[in-house]
Amino acid sequence: MSPEAASSLSQPRRFGSSAGQPLTRRDGLLKVTGRATYAADNHPEGMLYAVTTVSSIARGKVKALDIAAAKSHPGVVEVMTPANRPPLAHDPEVKIPPFGFRVEVLQDNSVRYANQPIALVIAETLEAATEGAALLRPQYETEPVRATMESGVPFEPGAVGVGSPARTVFGDIEAGFAAASHITEFDYATPAQYHNAMEPHAVVAQWDGDRLTLDMPNQAMALSCASYGAFFGVPAENVLIRSPFLGGGFGSKAILNGPQILAILAARMLKRPVKLVLTRAQMYGPVGHRGETRQRLRLGADAQGRLTAISHHAVCATSSFDEFLEPAANASLPLYASPAILVEHQAVRLDTGTPGPMRAPGEASGSAALEAAIDEAAEACGMDPLEFRLVNYAETEPVTGKPFSSKALRECYVEGAKRFGWSGRPLAPRRMRDDDGFLVGWGMGTAVFPCPHFPAAARATLRADGTALVETAGADMGQGAWTALPQIAAESLGVHIDQVEFRSGASHLPDGGVAGGSGHTASAGLALRNASEHALAQLAELAAADPGSPLFGAGNAGFTSRDGRLHHRDDESRSQSFADILARAGRAEVTGSAKAARHPSVAESRALYSHGAVFAEVKVDPDLGQIRVTRLVGAFAAGRIINPHLARSQYLGGMIWGLSFALQEEAITDCRTGRIMNADLAEYHVPVNVDAPSVEAILIHEDDPHINALGVKGVGEIGVTGTVGAIANAVWHATGVRVRRYPIRIEDVAMVV
Ligand code: MOS
Repeated sequence: MSPEAASSLSQPRRFGSSAGQPLTRRDGLLKVTGRATYAADNHPEGMLYAVTTVSSIARGKVKALDIAAAKSHPGVVEVMTPANRPPLAHDPEVKIPPFGFRVEVLQDNSVRYANQPIALVIAETLEAATEGAALLRPQYETEPVRATMESGVPFEPGAVGVGSPARTVFGDIEAGFAAASHITEFDYATPAQYHNAMEPHAVVAQWDGDRLTLDMPNQAMALSCASYGAFFGVPAENVLIRSPFLGGGFGSKAILNGPQILAILAARMLKRPVKLVLTRAQMYGPVGHRGETRQRLRLGADAQGRLTAISHHAVCATSSFDEFLEPAANASLPLYASPAILVEHQAVRLDTGTPGPMRAPGEASGSAALEAAIDEAAEACGMDPLEFRLVNYAETEPVTGKPFSSKALRECYVEGAKRFGWSGRPLAPRRMRDDDGFLVGWGMGTAVFPCPHFPAAARATLRADGTALVETAGADMGQGAWTALPQIAAESLGVHIDQVEFRSGASHLPDGGVAGGSGHTASAGLALRNASEHALAQLAELAAADPGSPLFGAGNAGFTSRDGRLHHRDDESRSQSFADILARAGRAEVTGSAKAARHPSVAESRALYSHGAVFAEVKVDPDLGQIRVTRLVGAFAAGRIINPHLARSQYLGGMIWGLSFALQEEAITDCRTGRIMNADLAEYHVPVNVDAPSVEAILIHEDDPHINALGVKGVGEIGVTGTVGAIANAVWHATGVRVRRYPIRIEDVAMVV
């Protein structure tokens, strides 16, 4: 069932509900009633089940597999190993730009990390495949494992993140420090983190000749079709990805992974549909993660508390065979005004799966260090952390000198502080206690996130019955695209949202761009707007050419559209309904198609960011050292808000990621074996309701006339930035302890409280 069908079942008609209105999710009913179809819910006729056998060592070779034992298990159909893996049309060691990664697809018997797929067992049932995979009982030749940041030799990477420079120098950094009255220099550490989307990575692959249909959660459908096409030697248009709903993505579903390619290969080899669903533990390896970082922040400030130099050095983990570097130090580029800024990255190779983009990659880990360092600089200057930030935030992008496309950061600081009740905060730590004797601390951090635009396309059809069909291939991993995008279309077309049928989540639709980088609403939304304008232009042409139309001859005067009618721009009394225009022209519908890309001049002339400020209160048990976040208040400015209800929910989610980063998430690797010891949701900690009792997001009004024709920026990832540091700073304010290694733990503060 489509979200439209579900939303029309029981929801009352709303009035005035196009862009800007706080609609609830159109797909909400499907989700809460279990009728939303996720990839693994598909069971095509004749389907087989595939299960990967994964490596229990982190480095070495597979010497033997008991293939006979696995094959003789009832129900097992085939065992795929490097010995019999059918050829692929693309070398898996060669990355496919722009977001390509090297993948492990049984190309040889080497083991590069724990949990790497080393065989695939395909069977008639999931149970048989699981048992068959266990019967392989691999034997290994092991090599010493490089599991810690200290075990590698740092090197200079060519790039960080997705093609960002690894080193940026601005101004005279030595002169900046020479001019400083206060210099603070500290080291910060962030751990490896895993995406842990609720929905595991899954694929149901079906071949029909040289046409491939994939039911899979996917954040980047068009890119993936091209990549799968390359791997299997078929044109990209032969690959259909259906991805109507994602149970979370967090970046891990934007990239190809080995297990999925193996399942597709199995389907082709066995000429039957094949389903593969990774277990939770198997997701700690081949599907990306946030790499560990070590960061050194050196800040100089003059006697008035103005920054004179920022030096941010990050050492970031990558795998032994590929590079993705968390662009952590780049967090120091866009935010604080300093006459000299140096950011640089080094890389260390570990025996892990390759890191990848995860929930504000770089911005999260970098701001976790930067915002804590800013707090330490404020303390050195004897200044309140808010006052210090108000003195030092940049009015133009520091390194480039470009003006921001818009910037309501000051309002975020002021409104956030007011709502939180920041004034009256004692400067010194350990000054506040609650009625139960718990130590209370208040901290803050600045939030910032760039606004990318992904090339996107869309189609908009106006039908003679007054309804509209709008289409774009975007993915909704929970952010609300099923709701926000049709809101944009409804507004652009001038029809009521309930008249808009939205088709999305499949790759045969016009490319909706990447659902990532917090750029999906802006990218796909702009394409929908342009497609809507194209449809309206055709309608206007029909009306203007019709002697019987009240709009006859109005060609150059132009039109406006609202409530399903075209109006003469200069004479509002002249109007005609879409349905009437189509009926008189004998047309069933008109269809507009359009693409949306950002003109290079926009980013060349402006710095494009969303901004915010996050305030945190923590309470620390003086006997046990237990840390609780009792309040989070974030104020965010992200241009025009299409749906305040959904935007708020994105901010809350982002702030909870920040809480998670500050106090809970960490993948712990056994440094003797290179295996992750907490590869499950029992021991890999994430917040539950009791951990986040009060989280509030304030939406600060911001008009951005430059960013795009919609004025829309991104809201998805900014919440995590700022929050991590705010909590660390609040822990200091409560306890007097600066904990510079995340996540902050009881034992970090227990001895002093
Ligand atoms: Mo993301 S890490 O932009 O899905």
